[in-house]
Amino acid sequence: MQRERWSSRLGFFLAAVGSAVGLGNMWRFSYLTAENGGGAFVLLYVLFVFLVGLPVLLAELAIGRGTRRSPVGALAELGGSAWPALGGLFVLSGFLILAYYSVIAGWTLRYVFDLATSGLPADAGAYFDGIVDGGRAVGWHLGFMLLTVATVLGGVRRGIERLALVLMPALFVMLAGLAAYAATLDGAAEGYRFYLAPDFAQLGNADVLTAAASQAFFSLSLGMGAMLTYGSYLSDDAPLPRQALSIAGADFGVALVAGLAVFPMIFAFGLSDQIGGSAVGALFVTLPRAFEEMGAVVGTAVGLLFFVALAIAALTSAISLLEVVVATSMDALGWPRRGATLAAGGLIAAVGILPALSVDSLSLMDRLAGELFLVFGGLLLAVFAGWFARSPREAGEREAPGELWRGSWKWLLRLPVPLVLAYVLVRFAQNLF
Ligand code: TRP
Repeated sequence: MQRERWSSRLGFFLAAVGSAVGLGNMWRFSYLTAENGGGAFVLLYVLFVFLVGLPVLLAELAIGRGTRRSPVGALAELGGSAWPALGGLFVLSGFLILAYYSVIAGWTLRYVFDLATSGLPADAGAYFDGIVDGGRAVGWHLGFMLLTVATVLGGVRRGIERLALVLMPALFVMLAGLAAYAATLDGAAEGYRFYLAPDFAQLGNADVLTAAASQAFFSLSLGMGAMLTYGSYLSDDAPLPRQALSIAGADFGVALVAGLAVFPMIFAFGLSDQIGGSAVGALFVTLPRAFEEMGAVVGTAVGLLFFVALAIAALTSAISLLEVVVATSMDALGWPRRGATLAAGGLIAAVGILPALSVDSLSLMDRLAGELFLVFGGLLLAVFAGWFARSPREAGEREAPGELWRGSWKWLLRLPVPLVLAYVLVRFAQNLF
């Protein structure tokens, strides 16, 4: 069967940005910024996005486009027998990340539903405690997985690309609206100051550094072959470096704007001491308190807008996680899309019941798969692209121009990127055990 292709450049761009922009940009970025001292974290994050993330993103796209295969096959084609194991790690990461990601996405669906039907909760903390785990969380997680599976069943063009074409512009408008509203609040300035003025003393803080590095990876969807897989559906004439730059820029832009909405709201209502507290739930508890302060009508409207945007962001990311597993089963096992999607989706939904029942296991999975595995995967991928990969053309690939193998990217991928990532990895391992 012929491999599917994106139908347009814009379609690919929005699908890739859809993958990148997710819970990571709004939920994770906000609490990490709060936890790591604000502006300094944001500054380091920008540096990591463009100096470390961008080369790896370009490598993933080039490997995918050059081989037209999903991770396991692509690494085998360009690297020979040892490297497909890395593809296996990618698939495992996708599997584990989606399992807990879908649980968090389920919370957001639940917020949307409850806000629309019964307005703001009286006590945001108690409300969150009530929905975060247990049977209800399982139900909403399964509902979200159903949406994800339904989209991926439609395939690259009719499912993934079409959804992104409709939802991503809507998401941009919603976030811009939220940030504009936040700017009108009394006391917004204090939020901006915390968010944007770096405390230079924090720049050398190793914890802030590693948090910024892992967040750059998670947010750009790197380190597990998602961008590689999306790249495998690109046509030969796609200008990869420019596309990689726009994807990274858009992803950073959305995180920046999300912060411009979140921090003024939180500081304007004097809730700043709460957000850094319990990492996973911070945003889900603190923001509704801010919504409450806005009054019932405005607060409900702003809250709905926020959680609908979050749900959209989550869905367009979740489909990319599932697509890695699905594309691999299709390529490696020869399964049809339908069977592969239902099997992978069903299995991941089942595994996700664990993090839906216990927030502790959710946090653990996030640290393990969402941080450690991604950074490890990205490190190996950089080493692979920098040192070991044959260029697609040498490997018998016909037309692929392979910008990666010409440019200066290779030099970033050879030493600076692996060194930075290895440092981050060591620190992670120290913190984990
Ligand atoms: N980037 C997404 C976010 O910010 C999450 C995501 C989607 C992801 N696909 C990925 C993370 C692949 C790592 C790898 O929420």
